[in-house]
Amino acid sequence: MQRLFRKRIVLGVGGGIAAYKSAELVRRLRDQGAEVRVVMTQGGREFITPLTLQALSGHPVHLDLLDPAAEAAMGHIELARWADLVLIAPATADVMARLAQGVANDLLTTLVLATDAQIALAPAMNQAMWRDPATQSNAELLRGRGFHFFGPAAGSQACGDVGPGRMLEAEELAQRAADCFQVLDLTGQHVLITAGPTQENIDPVRYITNHSSGKMGFALAEAAAEAGARVTLVTGPVHLPTPDRVTRVDVVSARDMLAACEAAMPADVLIAAAAVADYRPEVVASQKLKKDPTKGDGLLLQLVRNPDILATLAQRADRPFSVGFAAETENLLEYASRKLKDKNLDLIVANDVANPSIGFNSEENAITVIDRELHENAFAQTSKGKIARQLIAFIADRLKRH
Ligand code: C5P
Repeated sequence: MQRLFRKRIVLGVGGGIAAYKSAELVRRLRDQGAEVRVVMTQGGREFITPLTLQALSGHPVHLDLLDPAAEAAMGHIELARWADLVLIAPATADVMARLAQGVANDLLTTLVLATDAQIALAPAMNQAMWRDPATQSNAELLRGRGFHFFGPAAGSQACGDVGPGRMLEAEELAQRAADCFQVLDLTGQHVLITAGPTQENIDPVRYITNHSSGKMGFALAEAAAEAGARVTLVTGPVHLPTPDRVTRVDVVSARDMLAACEAAMPADVLIAAAAVADYRPEVVASQKLKKDPTKGDGLLLQLVRNPDILATLAQRADRPFSVGFAAETENLLEYASRKLKDKNLDLIVANDVANPSIGFNSEENAITVIDRELHENAFAQTSKGKIARQLIAFIADRLKRH
């Protein structure tokens, strides 16, 4: 089995003698089905030529942050978004120090700051440099931020020393890269995701809507696709690009959203991240409503309930594994658990939209996932991309046991 089938790996090559193994690593990653793009530091180029890595990866090697031609082809932000995993091998003491400090003075370190992907380091350096407290505290700091560390191994070194600091062999690094995706495996599953707000028309120029940006649903779609799922993303009106490998269906109202979801069934997993309007105007005026002085200062708008998309799909005989969101401003966990029962869900994701740094329209989120046994699993505040990946891993795990 190709354990990295369709996975996108940015391989960062730092300046160390172990860079000679990076050529082999490109081969091993591609053997496992991965697409590989290589980024080299200035130091890396002193040890191995870009031409070698270009030939092996099948793509031009990315070298400079400020190269207009390269940026026009695939810029650093694009590359950061493209990656499912950034693997730096060899990761020198200098690269680690720069990453620990958040320095962005070359293409590789800038890309690491910009990416939402998993990041793995394969350290390679002299044993004394690895043991140095500065390097050790950088490693500690980076581990705390969620960086994976592959190695180093101990043994004889190019400089004649013996000790820890040898880069792992290419074969082992490729296996470790594959392990990064193991928990995320949704290969062969159809994942249906709703996202964004809905718009409920009042008349031809006005509508009722809400503050949902769609960012969480889109991040989930991207993470599910990255995990190998076939993804259908049914979204209300948002200003977001369609993630790669995702089938997007644009809708406007709640009733459209339900119809689009029903058309997309059957699905193995449903994640309802949309902020669906609970009510819509009973009648949509065919002409723009005018101010009517005979009716005083007020205007009465009669609203009727919209269908509950999530509850409707979660009640079908062919119901998917159903995951809802509860965005609340108070009594978060109590309201969320009630919704889990009322809508017949497998999981509910509770998020506190009263906190302005998370939830609606923000870049970050912090969530608590509640299951049918009412166990609570908290995920600390981080970018919506990272939360999405953690949530997809959690769902994949539950699905396996389901
Ligand atoms: O009941 P409430 O709107 O708070 O429930 C939120 C959850 O239900 C979300 O997952 C949301 O996407 C879903 N929902 C839905 N259709 C509705 C209302 C909510 O799918 N009409």
